[in-house]
Amino acid sequence: MITHRSYAVEPWTVRETELSLDVLAQSESVFALSNGHVGWRGNLDEGEPHGLPGSYLNGVYEVHPLPYAEAGYGYPESGQTVIDITNGKILRLLVDDEPFDLRYGRLVSHERTLDLRRGVMERTCEWVSPAGTRVRVRSTRLVSLTQRSIAAVAYEVEAVGSQARVVIQSELVANEQLPESNGDPRAAMALQAPLEPEQDFASGSRLRLVHRTRHSGLRVAVAADHVVTGPERTTTGGESHPDLARLTVASVLEPGEKLRVEKTVAHGWSGARSLPAMSDQVDAALAAAAHGGWTGLVDQQREYLDDFWARADVEVDGDEEIQQAVRFALFHVLQAGARAEERAIPAKGLTGSGYDGHAFWDTEMFVLPVLIYTSPDAVAEALRWRQNTLPAARERAAQLGLRGAAFPWRTIEGEEGSAYWPAGTAAFHVNADIAHAVVRYVAATGDEDFERDTGVELLVETARLWRSLGHHDHRGTFHIDGVTGPDEYSAIADDNTYTNLMARANLLAAADVVERYPKVAERLGADDEESAAWRDAAESMNIPYNGELGVHEQHAGFTRYQRWDFAGTRADQYPLLLHFPYFDLYRKQVVKQADLVLAMYTCGAEFDEEHIARNFAYYEPLTVRDSSLSACVQAVIAAQAGHLRLAYDYTAEAALMDLEDLEHNTRDGLHIASLAGTWMALVAGFGGMRRSGETLQFAPRLPEKFSRLAFSLQFRGRRLRVEITQQSATYTLLSGPPMHIRHHGERVTVAPDTPTSHPVPPPRHRPAPEQPPHRKPNAR
Ligand code: BGC
Repeated sequence: MITHRSYAVEPWTVRETELSLDVLAQSESVFALSNGHVGWRGNLDEGEPHGLPGSYLNGVYEVHPLPYAEAGYGYPESGQTVIDITNGKILRLLVDDEPFDLRYGRLVSHERTLDLRRGVMERTCEWVSPAGTRVRVRSTRLVSLTQRSIAAVAYEVEAVGSQARVVIQSELVANEQLPESNGDPRAAMALQAPLEPEQDFASGSRLRLVHRTRHSGLRVAVAADHVVTGPERTTTGGESHPDLARLTVASVLEPGEKLRVEKTVAHGWSGARSLPAMSDQVDAALAAAAHGGWTGLVDQQREYLDDFWARADVEVDGDEEIQQAVRFALFHVLQAGARAEERAIPAKGLTGSGYDGHAFWDTEMFVLPVLIYTSPDAVAEALRWRQNTLPAARERAAQLGLRGAAFPWRTIEGEEGSAYWPAGTAAFHVNADIAHAVVRYVAATGDEDFERDTGVELLVETARLWRSLGHHDHRGTFHIDGVTGPDEYSAIADDNTYTNLMARANLLAAADVVERYPKVAERLGADDEESAAWRDAAESMNIPYNGELGVHEQHAGFTRYQRWDFAGTRADQYPLLLHFPYFDLYRKQVVKQADLVLAMYTCGAEFDEEHIARNFAYYEPLTVRDSSLSACVQAVIAAQAGHLRLAYDYTAEAALMDLEDLEHNTRDGLHIASLAGTWMALVAGFGGMRRSGETLQFAPRLPEKFSRLAFSLQFRGRRLRVEITQQSATYTLLSGPPMHIRHHGERVTVAPDTPTSHPVPPPRHRPAPEQPPHRKPNAR
């Protein structure tokens, strides 16, 4: 855990002012650069010391058998795990006779900065070798948001005070040795040496390695080119071996002289393309990047991000840490999805190998909701990936004896990768989550081409699943029994309220599109009779409610379970999943993460204000937040229920999850959903933003510490800016035709050039709900 504040609090940068080897792996995640296709962890340029080396290509994985002591029908037989691809970021340095290794000699200074506006990571350090030679090293690194396969480093060494003989070895390294896994089930199962060499090449300043994964049969090509600038006496030479290609640059530097290597690295992978085609592909990408050179890459990166921040920035006055954290969060959410292009957005993005690089419902319920209003194109791409995996999802449904498509709980390629079916297969809600994202995206963009070509198919196939998974009882009530909702401390439960409400919306949305797109429906074999059955199921959906307590049940019968012994649970026994058997968690009232509370956000129209307050007060003392997906949702509903102080603390927890390593596992990669949740907490929580059909509603209210909150949104061809103070909210249409919104229920028209301001009413006072002992969020 990062116990001290490791990073300076600045609005547009994350700056580490000294190198702490004990939190190296955490920093590697925090400083990871990615564009959704290529991911480089923030490893030191020289490769060592490292916490966890990491270079990833979205979609490159290896399969491994899933062993079961007691196998059963339909258990997934093989798992997928993200692998380290060829590492192109290494530049080793030799100073006189000593390797530049920060564990030896004397480190005078070391600073790394993640610049959120320029999209680069910069490093400067000064070091004295054990023999007394002093050098200054500067490097700048980027993973290009504009040229999808490209990452680049500019590495510069300067002799300080005396002459230095320096050698830079710029390398491509495959099958890099990985540290042993720490035994946490949420970390990756590391696969040693997963790449088989196919080609190695070095000529002039160009290097290339092509490999293939043993079992998944994916070809991975990585190539690099270099521009070297240094004194005249500088020499260069290349060599290649099956797992290593290297350009060696040697020089003698007089004091003040510099040796600079600009390294551009191109990445590509394919399950279909031939060896010559793949090596041509990466060479071509290098040629394209060489066009504008290093400066071109840096300039394009800035332009891309200027555009992003113009539409996505969130400004917070009154809490500098949250200001920094929300920009850090938006930057990483963008990095995770920007250029994923018909590939998954994994729970850790491409920042680490945690959760084996799998994508979960995190994408549709946490990440996409942010991108819908800030980078909608990335959302369409992510949902097209789901569409591309429909064959696997249909097959899985058939295997389970169900109709339509059963999307996997966790996956890289589309097949179910969960070996624990009560939390995997049974978490069917992922299907409704995908449908929810489709509906949300279409409502926010009006993208009818997407709706017709992708949306209808996803909605129809998921609706079919619900209709076949549930049943009408003798009274006609529709039930979905034996499923697992978002709270993974309950499993195989009947009528999970979140699942049922989300399934209901899914069924109705499918019935609607079948009417609106009859030709597509016909192609999918969906007729009026089928959509009538969906409507029927939706309308008679069971929503469990305990009339005596006046609260909704998380699932049927939940409120009569014994309460977890919170008083007898010590602080060090959290997360409970690492200290107690699931058997016991499942039969008690204890909630891992927002479930019913999440339903009140995603299906808000189903709950009146009184129930929102009462349900929240009931579930708060049961919710232990053993998942990083919880705090942001609790922030949203706490704000709605008027608990602004609590909402503020939860917002900070979501926002600082990785900057302060609150879950003690940032080393394995960032919590992308929680980062996305920071935006959710601010915009949907304090901004009170909800969507009803094609109308945006706001019910803003700030916590005491904030003097101002401002954010922009893209919505149906408009750009809207919302600025909130303690007293009022101002809505400004930055572009697009006039629109109607709601402010605390009142209809407001926002027209170009006429900002409109409205008073913020005070919240209704309600007693603050309690959390389980040791599980209160940190008070700020
Ligand atoms: C949570 C899931 C989540 C997964 C990946 C688990 O701890 O309970 O809801 O999808 O982590 O983030």
